[in-house]
Amino acid sequence: MSSLPRSAVFYGAVINPQTLTAYQALPNCLLSVGFDGNIDWLEEDVPEYLLQEVLSRHGSSDADIITLKHGEFLMPGFVDTHTHAPQVPNLGSGQQHELLDWLAEVTFPMEAKFKDLDFARRTYEKVVRRIVDSGTTTCCYYGTLHLEATNILVDIIHSYGQRAFVGKCNMDRNCPDDYIEPSADASMEATKAQSSLPGLPSPALARSSLRSGTSARADPSLLVQTHISENEAEIVFTKHLFPECSSYADVYDKHGLLGPRTVLAHAVHLHESEVTLVKQRDAGVSHCPTSNFNLRSGVCPVGKLLDRGIKVGLGTDVSGGFSPSILTAIQHASIASKVVALETPADKSGTSQSFAGRQLSIAALLHLATLGGAQVCGLQSRIGSFAPGKAFDALLGSVRTDAGNPGLWGVDCDAELGVERNGAALYSVLERFFFTGDDRNIRKVYVQGRWIGGVERRQ
Ligand code: GUN
Ligand code: FE
Repeated sequence: MSSLPRSAVFYGAVINPQTLTAYQALPNCLLSVGFDGNIDWLEEDVPEYLLQEVLSRHGSSDADIITLKHGEFLMPGFVDTHTHAPQVPNLGSGQQHELLDWLAEVTFPMEAKFKDLDFARRTYEKVVRRIVDSGTTTCCYYGTLHLEATNILVDIIHSYGQRAFVGKCNMDRNCPDDYIEPSADASMEATKAQSSLPGLPSPALARSSLRSGTSARADPSLLVQTHISENEAEIVFTKHLFPECSSYADVYDKHGLLGPRTVLAHAVHLHESEVTLVKQRDAGVSHCPTSNFNLRSGVCPVGKLLDRGIKVGLGTDVSGGFSPSILTAIQHASIASKVVALETPADKSGTSQSFAGRQLSIAALLHLATLGGAQVCGLQSRIGSFAPGKAFDALLGSVRTDAGNPGLWGVDCDAELGVERNGAALYSVLERFFFTGDDRNIRKVYVQGRWIGGVERRQ
């Protein structure tokens, strides 16, 4: 595991998320990372001739300076609030299905294979490598229902140094005979026995093991991650399983699972009363647009959720979603918001600044991919933006021609973008990175100051 050598100072272009409507694009930023991997200090605009003076003012004259090249920039690492590690081998398969058939035909057969611990280890090694190299510094992972295989996933994530929440699946009914837990109690016991990543409690997660009248939460400090209101047939089936509950959201609420540490994936078809309940309980939503399009689940009206003040992050939902990269989720979140805006446009006559019925701006997309995700998993005081005392979880992106992405060829950074001087040009760099970038443009990935991935680490 390689670390930043000692206290290190980056000098160059920095993108810093702020709110859903604003972010900082700082072409000449100085950012200092301490031994502990936390950000020591940050100076937003330092012209070159003042560099030494500012460094000495901070007592950092002998720090290692990492000067970013033209076309390179730092931004907080991506937060993936919902993905399934064991489904990565299925990426791109089963395009013909909607959710329930896809679970039965494609997903559960693959997940069942993780009973084989050698297979689990070999697969998870590659899965986590790929997700880290996609720029995801914090990831909410589902494993399978197998305790041992999920513990292997935890070990591998820990050895790579990624920040993560990991949960084994809880599944005790409506599953295949070879992929089911013996009882809800056994499932809860196994969840309690699951190992967690240092410093982070592991989540319990629910697929279908709820029994009415029992509390399903293993431990109130755990993050709970689950699916909600993803697909019409799934909603009908859920209501059939829980006739005593007034809505899908009410199922979780009645079982003590809806709270500030709950991550609800999809939330495509929530009724008004459910939106109100989710907000009241301060649960977060993982917006998974790639999966929602791919499984024909629907289009989440994410602007409406944002208008209601609900915490929202992005999720890749592999392999409902066919890409493990949050960049793809950003692209599809943009398209999803445009589809909603086409179908139910915002009333443009008033002065309302609503998100509903409008396309998501670059600031909003950036927020969802970083700070919003951090809020959803309760880490907003540690990650999601750059500030003194926060962890240095970051990616070093590049739109340089030599980053090797043909999608970005033809961009002459010095002449055309003037990245190093011009804040407006940096806005354009971020937009191009979001819409044409991929993991070739993610040169380095840092978690808690440690360089754990990216193209340059693989070379
Ligand atoms: N609902 C229950 N399990 C799953 C899953 O693995 N993926 C998705 N997208 N929805 C689910
Ligand atoms: Fe999912």
